[in-house]
Amino acid sequence: MASDDHHHRDPPVDLNENGDSPNHKKQKLSLITDAEIRSEFSHHDPSIARINNGSFGSCPKTVIAAQNQWQLKYLKQPDAFYFNHLQPSILRSRTVIKDLINADHVDEVSIVDNATTAASIVLQQTGRAFSEGRYDKDDAAVMLHYAYGAVKMSMQAYVTRAGGRVIEVQLPFPVTCNDEIIAEFRKALERGKSGGHKVRLAVIDHITSMPHVVIPLKELVKICRDEGVDQIFVDAAHAIGSTNVDMKEIGADFYTSNLHKWFFCPPSVAFLYCRKSDKMLDLHHPVVTHVYGNGLAIESAWIGTRDYSAQLVVPEVVEFVNRFEGGIDGIRTRNHEKVVAMGEMLAKAWGTNLGSPPEMCSSMVMVGLPPRLGISCDSDAMKLRTHLRECFGVEVPIYYRAPKDGDPVTGYARISHQVYNVVDEYYSFRDAVNKLVNDGVTCAVLSC
Ligand SMILES: Cc1ncc(COP(=O)(O)O)c(C=O)c1O
Repeated sequence: MASDDHHHRDPPVDLNENGDSPNHKKQKLSLITDAEIRSEFSHHDPSIARINNGSFGSCPKTVIAAQNQWQLKYLKQPDAFYFNHLQPSILRSRTVIKDLINADHVDEVSIVDNATTAASIVLQQTGRAFSEGRYDKDDAAVMLHYAYGAVKMSMQAYVTRAGGRVIEVQLPFPVTCNDEIIAEFRKALERGKSGGHKVRLAVIDHITSMPHVVIPLKELVKICRDEGVDQIFVDAAHAIGSTNVDMKEIGADFYTSNLHKWFFCPPSVAFLYCRKSDKMLDLHHPVVTHVYGNGLAIESAWIGTRDYSAQLVVPEVVEFVNRFEGGIDGIRTRNHEKVVAMGEMLAKAWGTNLGSPPEMCSSMVMVGLPPRLGISCDSDAMKLRTHLRECFGVEVPIYYRAPKDGDPVTGYARISHQVYNVVDEYYSFRDAVNKLVNDGVTCAVLSC
């Protein structure tokens, strides 16, 4: 397989027979109207108050249409697609991402399916270093207690099994300030280094999923550097489109973000940034093909026959977000302001609190639920979520938090705000919860 430099020389892809590129429209698009936003998301089920963009994201119609063109182009002449278009088009998306995230070089950017895949790539590399004796048994890898479940399992599967010691950073929730997180992180590093061992890897979330908290990433990365941690991997599955993402400012070795959560890509596409250094050399895609050994970006760009179309529409997504005032930065700023306002409205209506101060939230907010709902375990939280979906048409994830320090709030809803949301959806949620409380319904009596 050719190197990346070879791909640089390929011309941009033309989708049309006549050589026009619909991906590079010349005219400047005017700002999107409310009616156009409704039309872009008119495929959403109108019977559902979808205040959960955080789980699976969303994709507008114009991007779906562009994706469909790629799919048809492949089906029309698969060989021409494979030999002429696929690699230059993936490179085009990687180049757009490189600029979005302020990376130094396109070779630092690989496109993978999702953050779960990216975590496997990084953690398999750590596991190999343990099993091949480059790291001592009992050297440590540190991760947050609120790391995503799949990432925790990957740590077990790749790091613990290879002899590494995995240390969890205990985090408070509700949380009131960054210092609480920083103090716990320092303690975990101390435990990792005790007995003369080394901390080989720190896995840090940029934005934790459940409960949702924006982590003081730059501070934690700096602490890792000061304390001699070998490698830093940032799981930022939620980040691009909901917070500022700048590789030079953050300074981690590895950083992944989904583009299908908050950046309007179709499912599924994520980038994995790997800072240029010799640390990149032993990174491999878990799916091995004939391009194995050509560097992660090239390995990731061919993992066998499949649908690559989601990866190819990143330029169209940029066109879409640029129809909004301030582009993606404007979108995320407004989403943040609106979700905080909605969270405060709900907390006031229910007499509860937010799970963290607004500055520790992105486009999602944790809102305390009324204690009278009787949420007393994880399965209660799931029952309530299902009940809200099936009986009230409200889609929102619920988090159970064990009782602590006399605080009666044991359940939090994670609400999201994306461009398609309207205030009535949050009112539907408020009213559904109020009805359950007024009717004396508790999780104990919910069957589904
Ligand atoms: C923090 C975090 N990491 C990883 C993931 C996994 O993302 P995906 O399912 O797209 O791989 C998620 C998904 O919500 C997440 O929130």
